[in-house]
Amino acid sequence: MKKALITGVTGQDGSYLAEFLLEKGYEVHGIIRRSSSYNQERLEDIMSKEEAEALKGHQRFYLHYGDVTDALNITKIIGDIRPDEIYNLAAQSHVRVSFDMPGYTLDTDAKGTLNILEAVRILGLSEKTKIYQASTSELFGKVQEVPQKETTPFYPRSPYGVAKLYGFWITKNYRESYNMFAANGILFNHESERRGETFVTRKITLAAARIAQGKQKKLCLGNLDSLRDWGYAKDYVECMWLILQHDKPEDFVIATGEMHSVREFTELAFKNAGIELKWTGKGIEEKGINKKTGEVIVEVDSKFFRPAEVDQLLGNPTKAKTLLGWNPTKTSFNELIKKMIISDMKKVNNEQKIKKSFD
Ligand code: NAP
Ligand code: GDD
Repeated sequence: MKKALITGVTGQDGSYLAEFLLEKGYEVHGIIRRSSSYNQERLEDIMSKEEAEALKGHQRFYLHYGDVTDALNITKIIGDIRPDEIYNLAAQSHVRVSFDMPGYTLDTDAKGTLNILEAVRILGLSEKTKIYQASTSELFGKVQEVPQKETTPFYPRSPYGVAKLYGFWITKNYRESYNMFAANGILFNHESERRGETFVTRKITLAAARIAQGKQKKLCLGNLDSLRDWGYAKDYVECMWLILQHDKPEDFVIATGEMHSVREFTELAFKNAGIELKWTGKGIEEKGINKKTGEVIVEVDSKFFRPAEVDQLLGNPTKAKTLLGWNPTKTSFNELIKKMIISDMKKVNNEQKIKKSFD
């Protein structure tokens, strides 16, 4: 049975990847951070299935306390497990927050990556353990070419992007220096029902659900003109695995090849929640109005602008399509939004029920 270790297992991608690898028959180990509040919500499905399996003596999912900034702890975990594959997904992954916490972002997203590579090397696991590094389209930042592919020059625009640039190059450097199977997935934005609530797509789908159910009056957003290549997270974790199954370690752009604006995402999300929007005004004065009631339900707030913005991202997934046989358009843009809205409509409805039970 192959063993995989996932850092960032409690996150959006980590939880989908753990499910995917368990279905493939792996023994899966995840690193979780000690937290004073509960941080394993996204793992609940796995945990309930695993509880039953563990009772039968078939446990295949294990959690370990750790932090990628703690080299001693990471080395111990990797040494104990001796995994066949490591997926390094742990990160301070919020671009806006990286401007507030550049030092912590550096420690986690750059040094954390080094800690993992170095642990594998000093433990003598370089030939056994393959490493996937969660790289990002934020490396392209102020884009030097449209669409972006593996050979497009990088130009990061945030402390997050700059820290991930180190992660990208140190992964490539360990591959070239020590002949390790270490590969970067340069993933473009991918979203889902499990997306963190402060990323723009999930902020919009949750707000649309709440406004549709009368639980929120208004949604305030930043840059509506920003353009992103948005895919579905569940489709993207398959690619992480495919990258490590490829015959040699290489870096891959993973994207849909389609680009949409934040404004377009907002319009479609509200439409799926049963609300038609019309737009008036420009720039900071732009407003989204409920066509039926005339109420202003979307506004622009400059507090969500970034010190430096990535205006557009559009990926060219030809290499992944050709060499990995991956299908980038399995879930369309419309289907993605529909899935997120259906899930958030249910969540908001349950929130009401939970609240009522305390009234
Ligand atoms: P996410 O939901 O924010 O999850 C991040 C995970 O990292 C969480 O499990 C978090 O733990 C963990 N983590 C944070 N700091 C840590 C530390 N110091 N030590 C150990 N664990 C730590 O992110 P995601 O969307 O799943 O993304 C997964 C990875 O792909 C990230 O590296 C991200 O930068 C990268 N990426 C994401 C996208 C995207 O569009 N989603 C695109 C390109 C690249 P807690 O739950 O305890 O906070
Ligand atoms: N978060 C947020 N909140 N973003 C907003 C808002 C808002 O209210 N209004 C407009 N935006 C714009 C941002 O300025 C950005 O241009 C775009 O929406 C997307 O923002 P996020 O959803 O926060 O994602 P991101 O593109 O900055 O970063 C995500 O994708 C990267 C891959 O390109 C993260 O998942 C990163 O970890 C990932 O590497």
